[in-house]
Amino acid sequence: MNVTASDISLRPFTLSDVEDYLMFCKDDEVNQYCAYKTIHTIQDGLEELEECVIPHPWHRAICLRDNRPIGEVILEQEEGFKNKCRGIIAYTLAKKYWGKGIGTLAVKLAVSTMFREFQDLERIEAHIVVENVRCQRLAEKVGFLKEGVLRKNMFAKDRIRDMFLYSILRTDLEEYNVLSATDSFENFRI
Ligand SMILES: CC(C)(COP(=O)(O)OP(=O)(O)OC[C@H]1O[C@@H](n2cnc3c(N)ncnc32)[C@H](O)[C@@H]1OP(=O)(O)O)[C@@H](O)C(=O)NCCC(=O)NCCS
Repeated sequence: MNVTASDISLRPFTLSDVEDYLMFCKDDEVNQYCAYKTIHTIQDGLEELEECVIPHPWHRAICLRDNRPIGEVILEQEEGFKNKCRGIIAYTLAKKYWGKGIGTLAVKLAVSTMFREFQDLERIEAHIVVENVRCQRLAEKVGFLKEGVLRKNMFAKDRIRDMFLYSILRTDLEEYNVLSATDSFENFRI
């Protein structure tokens, strides 16, 4: 499968996405570095979509041309948007789509969309478990800079994990004039 930037879109989830949503949520390998519990049933998937995903301010499905979710990307901000200048990104793809560059393209699109939609946002962080090398490589290809280590920062599955702190700034993108481009993320700096 040869996927280019124009094949990828981001959109809100709906309840009818539940089967595609489960494709990545129920996979223990996909979720091995994540804090949340793996979900397995259609009922659990529907509850998660209804209670958490759909009401979330910025939780998008990553889709290819057929508009079906193959993954998700999320921007977490402090409750009440008290600190509007900062958000934390998280991203996931179904296993069968790994290793084709799709994750990098989707996160580039997500970052440029976030900076465009949230005018007060200046900094997007990624907190990545130190063993999750694929995820770190993706962040670096998008243009995130590694700033340090967050020691014992998250309980994921069986133990407390150290995480790398990465960030990308609005000014990192503006330096390359990507936010004014109509085809924005095609020209995103790598
Ligand atoms: C992280 C994730 C989205 C990456 O998606 P992807 O489409 O496979 O990513 P890409 O193909 O764009 O890039 C992955 C890069 O990691 C590299 N990589 C993969 N395994 C690696 C390893 N063990 N060591 C070093 N680099 C590795 C790939 O070679 C590629 O880099 P390259 O293009 O320079 O060769 C996907 O693996 C995923 O969903 N993981 C589970 C969820 C998760 O951990 N999310 C992160 C929490 S924020």
